[in-house]
Amino acid sequence: MLDIKIEKTNNPKELPGADNPLKFGTIFTDHMFLMNYETNKGWHNPRVVPYQPLQLEPSAMVFHYGQEMFEGLKAYKTQDGRTLLFRPDKNIERANRTNRRICIPEIPEEDFLQAIKTVVKVDEAWVPTKEGTSLYIRPFIIATDPFLGVRPSDTYLFIIILSPVGAYYPEGLNPVKIWIEDEYVRAVRGGIGEAKTGGNYVASLKSQVKAHEAGYSQVLWLDGVERKYVEEVGAMNIFFKIDGKVITPELNGSILPGVTRDSVIALCKDWGIPTEERRISIDEIYEAYQSGALEEVFGTGTAAVISPVGQLRWDEHIMQVKDGGIGPLSQKLYDTITGIQLGRVEDRFNWTVEV
Ligand code: COI
Repeated sequence: MLDIKIEKTNNPKELPGADNPLKFGTIFTDHMFLMNYETNKGWHNPRVVPYQPLQLEPSAMVFHYGQEMFEGLKAYKTQDGRTLLFRPDKNIERANRTNRRICIPEIPEEDFLQAIKTVVKVDEAWVPTKEGTSLYIRPFIIATDPFLGVRPSDTYLFIIILSPVGAYYPEGLNPVKIWIEDEYVRAVRGGIGEAKTGGNYVASLKSQVKAHEAGYSQVLWLDGVERKYVEEVGAMNIFFKIDGKVITPELNGSILPGVTRDSVIALCKDWGIPTEERRISIDEIYEAYQSGALEEVFGTGTAAVISPVGQLRWDEHIMQVKDGGIGPLSQKLYDTITGIQLGRVEDRFNWTVEV
């Protein structure tokens, strides 16, 4: 059990009003959580302090070699005023998997959860209540040794910041258009693709710019070797409904193991829908599109929840998914997952945790 010191701000900000659209990731609450690591002391000095800029050496290793990890989860307000976290255990387990991959010391799971609950409790008034909103929780760890050699740092800072958010995409629940990238790659097996670390996201920027210029909001990555098998979208995992079956790429080492992905698989199986985690090639998707068997495409992610895909562009081929609207399965998944998150739908899987 951590002994977390709490220093409250003397200068609280105004809470965003009910009509604020809460553009994703732009507003931050009054407080943040901090905890330090040193090789001989382990994780120590856990504290909640007013949200403020950090002071770091310009030589801090994170700035040079990218030794950092992050997570993303959300807190929701129920109608009866409780604050719920959605599957925080999955995020914490994944955080430590990322830590092991990039040589950051692990944080005991119960301490991680206590840190999240404590800072969310302090800023509980910031959990928004409007339909489609939540409090996004961003835990992250950075390497802080002032050193320019390449090796794991001996010191780290663990930070949790909070941001009231609306939809991740400006499209909201309206379908997004996705660009299938066959020039650049995001990750390769044996690399860091399955870790939640900034390096994967910087690798995606060039293609994202290219896609945006062509009028597409996201990039769908193909595998890094053959550029043939579908991987993920970067901010989301991807699902296809073909001929009554739900198919998503298997976790092969270069795909992020998404918490919403896992929840969607559990729900589809529970509903008796044949659900497959396997390799799926872009040719198979194109063939399904041509034969009319491609029924729905959607992305899943904490930030995006369920994001229907209305159009896919692969080289010169444009695949319009059905009528380009939200499909019935995507809608049902969105309603069920957000219903559980908001305490409106029975939580049969025990996914929510009260703060
Ligand atoms: C999330 O869905 O929480 C993520 O971390 C994706 C991020 C790029 C917004």
